[in-house]
Amino acid sequence: MSKGQTPPSAPATGADHPLKVLIADDDPDILVSGRFLFRNEGWGVTQARSPKEALAAIEKDEFDAALVDMNYARNTTAGREGLDLVTEIRKVDPDLPVIVMTAWGTIDLAISAIKCGACDFVQKPWDNVRVVQQLKTAASACRALRKSRLLEEENRLLRGEGASPDFVCKSAPMRKIMEVVDQVAPSKANILLLGENGTGKSLLARIVHERSALQEGPFISVNVGGLPEGLFESEMFGHVKGAFTDAKADRVGRFELAKGGTLFLDEIGNITLSQQNRLLRLLETGEYERVGSSRTLKADVRIISATNSNLRAAVQAGNFREDLFFRLNTVTMELPPLRDRREDIVELAERFVAAQARKYGRKIKGLDASAEEAILAHTWPGNIRELSHAMERAVLMCRGETIVRHDLSIEPDDSAPASLESMSIEEVEQVLIRKALDRNEGNVSKAAADLGMSRATFYRRLKEQGK
Ligand SMILES: Nc1ncnc2c1ncn2[C@@H]1O[C@H](COP(=O)(O)OP(=O)(O)OP(=O)(O)O)[C@@H](O)[C@H]1O
Ligand SMILES: [Mg+2]
Repeated sequence: MSKGQTPPSAPATGADHPLKVLIADDDPDILVSGRFLFRNEGWGVTQARSPKEALAAIEKDEFDAALVDMNYARNTTAGREGLDLVTEIRKVDPDLPVIVMTAWGTIDLAISAIKCGACDFVQKPWDNVRVVQQLKTAASACRALRKSRLLEEENRLLRGEGASPDFVCKSAPMRKIMEVVDQVAPSKANILLLGENGTGKSLLARIVHERSALQEGPFISVNVGGLPEGLFESEMFGHVKGAFTDAKADRVGRFELAKGGTLFLDEIGNITLSQQNRLLRLLETGEYERVGSSRTLKADVRIISATNSNLRAAVQAGNFREDLFFRLNTVTMELPPLRDRREDIVELAERFVAAQARKYGRKIKGLDASAEEAILAHTWPGNIRELSHAMERAVLMCRGETIVRHDLSIEPDDSAPASLESMSIEEVEQVLIRKALDRNEGNVSKAAADLGMSRATFYRRLKEQGK
């Protein structure tokens, strides 16, 4: 198969996909016999006549193994070009196993190649059975490695650690936030994180924990705003067997689980007044009991809470207890929406593209100028989460080596309010939800009642907005 015919690869990690190998040599006879031999095995074969062609192929596609010659200029045997090629391949695709081809009697060269990162060598003229076996062995190790990388990446995503391990904070407002983080993270001061959906509150909570003196302790996250009234106490404080009908066994609460670490109370703006009372009592005394028990336990946690609602307005409107607000906001940090930190957009996008390309086994270098222009022009109402999902879609749509404007399913500017006729039911619903929240100063119960929805439904729809 020539380079041009190679389709954008699906992750080549499944055991059933035929192997994909690259063979590089300037000798056409070697290329022909290699292609014949490996195709006979049912493998996909890409040929390269020079180191340059070999590197171009590896940049474009993902292979399971490469078989490369050491000499590319007529009448040379020193192997310098081959050694350089091995080094370069390691830079482009460090997981790709490289088997070098050497002439008889050049064992020193084979050793040098292995020192440069080759995994094995073949002496020409090769033995068909042996070379096939060497490639199979190398390829299956490579597939296992790539598969474990993929699983690792997926696990990281499942653990909610996001598509990229690095926190982007290039823009001035984010640099300021990070200065505050550096100052306050080491202390045990409670922190309140404010900001729209998808601005990075949950991620920042984890970063604060990791930079704190409690980093060795647990980081327990609980979506308090989503806990039904009846479950709140037992979830937060635990219960003892028989405390209520369904309490079949003792249960450890989140405060106890987070002992010696950080307790992250997400969506704090959505808890009811009675839940606020319960939390306040604990924060004032530092003590609590499991439901159904009279034994007093000590709360030994740092609390980071987060909300996307306007908590100050909720306090003023009497929907959030002021004393609880003051307990939680020893330090407040407000994460700016993405439209107010444009300097971060391209870097975030590049990182998401790189992470998703890795996940899907695609060779994508980044975004071209037209795509960058489009993402900079967009207002990103769903903030970083929306950007991350848009980049995942773009990676899947992309047919070349860079993401172009056409691969993005975003409109250049959606900040202008659309007319009702041109909106989908979901979009109309989102507008109504936002307006109801504004009218009720962030009070979810009141906004839900306004729209005739249950609090749980309203809350679910609200979450869907940012997705
Ligand atoms: N500065 C950043 N650099 C890199 N990735 C980020 C950054 N901020 C957020 N992300 C990623 O963006 C996504 C959304 O972030 P996160 O879940 O922390 O937002 P949030 O404010 O907690 O949203 P919500 O209000 O919906 O809970 C996550 O995948 C997160 O890893
Ligand atoms: Mg969050």
